[in-house]
Parts: sequence; structure tokens; C-alpha cells
Amino acid sequence: MSKLGVFDLSVRYGKIPALNDVSFHVQEGERVFISGPNGAGKSSLLKAICGAVSTSHGRIEMDGDLLTGRPPEAIARLGLSMVPEGREIFGSLTVEENLRIGTGIRRDLEAIETDIDEIYQSFPILRERRHAAAGALSGGQQQMLAIGRALMTNPKLMMVDEPSLGLAPKIVDQVYDTLIALQEERGLTLLIVEQSSLRAARVGGKMFLMRGGRIVGAGNAAEMADEDALAQAYFGTPRVEGAA
Ligand SMILES: Nc1ncnc2c1ncn2[C@@H]1O[C@H](COP(=O)(O)OP(=O)(O)O)[C@@H](O)[C@H]1O
Ligand SMILES: [Mg+2]
Repeated sequence: MSKLGVFDLSVRYGKIPALNDVSFHVQEGERVFISGPNGAGKSSLLKAICGAVSTSHGRIEMDGDLLTGRPPEAIARLGLSMVPEGREIFGSLTVEENLRIGTGIRRDLEAIETDIDEIYQSFPILRERRHAAAGALSGGQQQMLAIGRALMTNPKLMMVDEPSLGLAPKIVDQVYDTLIALQEERGLTLLIVEQSSLRAARVGGKMFLMRGGRIVGAGNAAEMADEDALAQAYFGTPRVEGAA
């Protein structure tokens, strides 16, 4: 199971509100996009869900477990993992050392080797470069490594914050092909922050549209992308390109 429920969630940084009464659900096996301009609160939402920032109001549940107030390691153990914005790869460590970083919370030590092997099967390039410094990988390979590292905790629900960031459109295609393949192979539920609603529409799935810390629209990504373009024209928000 990997059903996520977010109820009236608010996050503030000091006095500054970043999220205001956000509510939504993700069903098991779904692929759900969160789209919206810079500063909309997308990353704050994912960070609140994985326990990296504290919430000022509301609650988060996964499969009936309350996540709110639990430390990030406990949330990870319940089967939720996060690929952070900007990837947060340790460039001076090797590829394999980066994969092992997330395993500190695991108690099934023998299974770690099997899991690393599985990740190498999904990402042959990571096996090939296992002893290379992660900083020497291309941007696309580093994104694959960040995804591989998130898989090391055997998540049921994986959240990915802006996987397209700084990558050429062709590489973005590969990253999304990989995410879709992983979803099919592992039965993963995916919650993806993607600034470009056009890209989300191309990949396909549900979409929630955020503005100013609120969810302002929800629906099928393909339909929402048109609505987003209209809203951006109306509000004068700069259009995000890169999905063409
Ligand atoms: N650590 C922080 N301290 C103070 N303000 C922050 C912090 N992180 C984000 N913010 C503010 O919260 C709002 C939402 O940011 P964020 O969640 O990063 O949006 P997005 O990911 O959609 O670009 C923005 O106004 C941003 O400036
Ligand atoms: Mg962000």
C-alpha cells in the first residue's frame, strides 16, 4: 500500500507562510505531478511530507500511519523516500558510496548488497562507473544516481523534486522513461514536482497546480497544462519552457 493523504497542511519559515491549508490525496500506484512557478511552495510541500521541515498546521498520513511529527528516518522506514531538488549528490564520494549513504537506517544488512545489484541492473551506467567520483558524472547520470539512492530504502512511495532541473530535453526524456519503467517494475507510487506543466502533460498522470502556497487546480495533467498556460497568461507569470 502507498496511499498518501495530506490534510490542511501549512508550513511557515518564521513568519513567512510557504504553504497554506494544502489538501490532496495520492492513490496507490498513481503518478501525480505538482506543478507551479518558482516559490509556489512545491519543495516545501515535499519536504514537509518527508519530515525535513516541520508543519505549523494539518496532518499527513500514509496507509493509515500518521507521518506528521515523525523524524525523517522514521518516515523513510515506513516506505517513503525523496529525490531532492538539485540531487544532493556527494561529488567527492564514489557512485557506490553515494548509494550506500541511505542504508544507515536499514537493519537487513545482507539485503543491501542485493538491492545495490538491482539498482545496477536498472542503471547499467552506474555499475560501470561505480568507483568513479560522483562529481565526474554527467547531469543526467547524477539524476539517475539520486534516484538510485532513493530506491535504496525500498520505498513504496517516491517523491522526486524537479528531476528536469538543468538537463537538456533529451536527457529529461530519459529520466522520465526511467521513472516510468521503475514504476512499472516496482509498483511504485510517484509524486513528482515538475515546474513545466507541458512536460508533465507529455509524461502523463494527475496534476495539482500550485500558486502562492496553495493548490489552485487539479486534474489530468494533459488538461491542466492548458489551464496552466491560461492562468499564467492571466496572472502574467513567466511561462516555463523546456518541455517541447
Ligand atoms: N529555508 C527557507 N527559509 C525561508 N523561506 C523559505 C525557505 N525555503 C523556502 N522559502 C520560501 O518559501 C516559499 C516557497 O518556497 P519553495 O517551497 O522552495 O517553492 P518552490 O519549490 O515551488 O519553488 C518561497 O517564498 C521561498 O522563498
Ligand atoms: Mg523547489
